[in-house]
Amino acid sequence: MPELSSRDQQAKKAVFDKWSKYYDSDHLWHWYFNAGYKKVVFYLIKENVSLGRSLDIGCGTGGLEEIILKNSFKSNTLAIDISEEMVKVARQKIVDQQIEFLVGDFNDLKLQKESFNNIFILNNLHHFTIIKDFFSKIDSLLLKGGHLFLIDPNADGILRKFWTVILDNVFFRHEGDVKYHSFKLVDKILKELKYSIIISKNFYFFSKFCIYRK
Ligand SMILES: C[S@@+](CC[C@H](N)C(=O)[O-])C[C@H]1O[C@@H](n2cnc3c(N)ncnc32)[C@H](O)[C@@H]1O
Repeated sequence: MPELSSRDQQAKKAVFDKWSKYYDSDHLWHWYFNAGYKKVVFYLIKENVSLGRSLDIGCGTGGLEEIILKNSFKSNTLAIDISEEMVKVARQKIVDQQIEFLVGDFNDLKLQKESFNNIFILNNLHHFTIIKDFFSKIDSLLLKGGHLFLIDPNADGILRKFWTVILDNVFFRHEGDVKYHSFKLVDKILKELKYSIIISKNFYFFSKFCIYRK
């Protein structure tokens, strides 16, 4: 499912390679990303979820894996990211036999069907512009009963749409081809795929935090 031209992919990699140098010390954004990992882990603890096999798409510097390990969860995780430098930072911080970090574009990745109990898509849904194809690939990878965790800026309503324009044109204007999605549309697609919604909450008003079960 190649979504981007290789020139777009190279540009995207370059942006995230650069960001990897200060991603974990970027006060504003790291605070926001960290709050997302904590929300996920809070749910895992509260519901006593046993993680099994997990896939983290666009894992960045491995912040989610770090907090999952800190909370003593056992998870056989494949964490992938298009940026080699992001993955380098993640590998330096986290050495654990259960966690494999891989450099790669999720669009090109061939994985065994129905092999994951959990899929995490935290703050990178907007990098997948053809959302229907993206979720159909996700669906093919997730086991029945598995969880799908999503956090991303939400493009529903004028205020939130305006904020996504600011994100795209002010904060992240070099990220290349991105599309901030309507979570009404995300919900529609996932309901068509027969997912049930477990949590759907605003996250700092402009973003959405959702958990679905297949
Ligand atoms: C804003 S960061 C979020 C990282 C992490 N999930 C977090 O919440 O801190 C977005 C990440 O998605 C990665 N990414 C973007 N497009 C990707 C793709 N097609 N395949 C894999 N990773 C991708 C970027 O390299 C970047 O590290």
